[in-house]
Amino acid sequence: MSWNVDNTADRQVECDSIAEQIRSWNWIVGGQYRLVDMMGKGSFANVYSAVNITDEADLVAVKISHERSEDTLVAEAKVYDKLFGLKGIPRTRMYVKERRCGALVMDLLGPSLGNLKDYCGHFSLKTVFMLADQMISRLASLHSRGYIHGDLKEDNFILGRQETIDERTVYLVDFGLAKTFLLTNGEHIAPKTGLNPCGTLRYTSLNCTLGNEISRRDDIESLGYLLIYLHRGDLPWILAESVVGGDEKRRLMADIKLHTPVKKLCEGLPDEFFAYITYCRSLRFDEQPDYARLRLLCEVAMHRLDYEIDGIFDWTIRLRDDLEWKRLLALEDVF
Ligand SMILES: Nc1ncnc2c1ncn2[C@@H]1O[C@H](COP(=O)(O)OP(=O)(O)O)[C@@H](O)[C@H]1O
Ligand SMILES: [Mg+2]
Repeated sequence: MSWNVDNTADRQVECDSIAEQIRSWNWIVGGQYRLVDMMGKGSFANVYSAVNITDEADLVAVKISHERSEDTLVAEAKVYDKLFGLKGIPRTRMYVKERRCGALVMDLLGPSLGNLKDYCGHFSLKTVFMLADQMISRLASLHSRGYIHGDLKEDNFILGRQETIDERTVYLVDFGLAKTFLLTNGEHIAPKTGLNPCGTLRYTSLNCTLGNEISRRDDIESLGYLLIYLHRGDLPWILAESVVGGDEKRRLMADIKLHTPVKKLCEGLPDEFFAYITYCRSLRFDEQPDYARLRLLCEVAMHRLDYEIDGIFDWTIRLRDDLEWKRLLALEDVF
């Protein structure tokens, strides 16, 4: 199922033609998984849904590198290997090289938070706090294996497949920019300055935007900006995104991030947001964030605002009804 919520006729024609093209390739990855549809298009790889040819109920996602970008996917596959077995990280099944591309096969998940934001609009505070609790846990486990993500955004957090026991689990994907913060001798890497910021500027930490090396603290700061954005649909530095020219844009982003007081950034939001961002910005480069303390902030906020931690997100009921409708319409097509 495609999670694109832009249901215009043009978009439908585009989706149909992509699916047709994929069918015409008749590409069976690793002799086992037949590509079905495209789910994501990126700068170095595309992601497809695929079906196991010996078991139609077994669906997977396949990330296929562009021809000259195989190295990046090889590196990403290695990170997935290191994270194998962690809750909220999709399990990878095989890596193969075919048709001059790399192909990484992994478990198929559901919609991304980006898809769901398009679907529902801004998320309620209850949804944001319930998500935050899981997202902080994902970062804690990623960091526990010695890696930082470096590109946190709504498209890289995906829910488990709908109508499975996993539909409320938030997964973290896309380790194309992930790197280790530990040296081979186990020591923390040293700080560096004068770097180009990596990741998505909208969510990069203040330090990263200013060209400083990133570490664990920057992942959790990015997550803080993402959470604010998911609720508000805005951040003070978003207006810099329309600036043409990479350097100019970066300079303006850095300037606004640097000069927006945290109080102003969190104006109108529960106090826990202020506490979260202030805490992130107080951490030392090599300091391990106190994940439990951050999760406690979410719990306290939920309690104070009288929200029940019941796993019912903004989209839970609407999505179930829509899926039921789609099933009925498909049945009508059959009869
Ligand atoms: N295992 C998966 N199951 C379902 N969808 C996925 C899966 N992995 C990725 N996607 C979808 O494909 C998109 C791109 O995947 P990602 O790994 O983030 O690649 P990129 O490096 O191009 O951003 C994601 O935003 C998500 O919508
Ligand atoms: Mg991505």
